[in-house]
Amino acid sequence: MKSYHLTLLPGDGIGPEIMDAAIKVLDLVGQQFNVQFDYEEALFGGCSIDRNGVPLTDETIEQCRKSDAVVMGAVGGPIWDTQPHENKPEQGLLKLRASLGLYANLRPATIYNALLDASSLKPTAIKNADIMVVRELTGGIYFGTPRGMDKGKGWNTLSYTKEEVERIARTAFDLAQKRNNHVTSVHKANVLESSQFWREIVEEVHQDYSDVVLDEMYVDNAAMQLVRDPKQFDVILTQNLFGDILSDISAMITGSLGMLPSASLGEEYAVYEPVHGTAPEIAGQNKANPLAMIGSIAMMLDYTFGMPEAATMIYDAIGEVLEMGSRTEDIATPNTNVVSTTEMRNLVLERCEGKSKTIIEMVRMSYEG
Ligand code: IPM
Ligand code: MG
Repeated sequence: MKSYHLTLLPGDGIGPEIMDAAIKVLDLVGQQFNVQFDYEEALFGGCSIDRNGVPLTDETIEQCRKSDAVVMGAVGGPIWDTQPHENKPEQGLLKLRASLGLYANLRPATIYNALLDASSLKPTAIKNADIMVVRELTGGIYFGTPRGMDKGKGWNTLSYTKEEVERIARTAFDLAQKRNNHVTSVHKANVLESSQFWREIVEEVHQDYSDVVLDEMYVDNAAMQLVRDPKQFDVILTQNLFGDILSDISAMITGSLGMLPSASLGEEYAVYEPVHGTAPEIAGQNKANPLAMIGSIAMMLDYTFGMPEAATMIYDAIGEVLEMGSRTEDIATPNTNVVSTTEMRNLVLERCEGKSKTIIEMVRMSYEG
């Protein structure tokens, strides 16, 4: 039996609740596919500040490096807002991304048919939309120096090297080849030199991908087009800050930020986390939507462990539960049945169990037939 070792970073707020749901799903799917996952938890974010004084310790980074993959909940909350800037939970997250070299952040906005009515956009506008935001994650204005603030001003630096743009562009083109062969490079080249540079390098990399259509868009236009006609996009390739903003917009197309999973990938390591935050206002109330976290587990099975069938089983299970009309509060509409985090978890588990029986049955029949 194959076995894999994972580090779990549940974090703060609703993090631990959604992590619990996702790991139960992973355990079940692992059993069905004959793969064993074992887990080691570590403190990360506000809970690590409370215990260790810092949001991310070197020991935790080391533990992540020794794991086959890292699964993360969410970090931050109002209690830690009084921390000095460099010690806030969010800074821990940036440190994690930088220390593990996670330069490629994949944020897929998949529209489930059952949720067409949960989105604030018209069902006809979003039906069959399927967008993958590829966000550069370890460069750009998030990490550029010099940076700082004093009484007279605040400043940051936005710069990209050729190598940084090249590798994220390759990630986007490679993904497009497995999807609909279309990349939209989003930048602000009408104003920023760093974007003119970005555009040039992306065009150069595109030479190696003649089967992929490349077009480009200024970021302000892209924000507008995403809500006007999201179906025009396949893969959106963009820098760190623009990707942060555009992925929240694309999440709302799906109905809720609580639906959007993500994978943060580098040459050696991978972290899987939902795009949403810690939702402190509902933390501990068993109300959070665990589907983004469960979807992140599916992405891990696909990208890190090469188990696309297991991933599909989870996505299909999620689709079926939504079809049945069960919704957490964030995606509830009239005539749907509001369920808690644990109820949603159990429904997904049941659907996965049902499916694996069908899969096992099919395998048995193929032996007998
Ligand atoms: C995200 C979040 C983070 C980011 C914050 C929490 C630092 O908004 O993952 O999108 O800005 O990258
Ligand atoms: Mg964000």
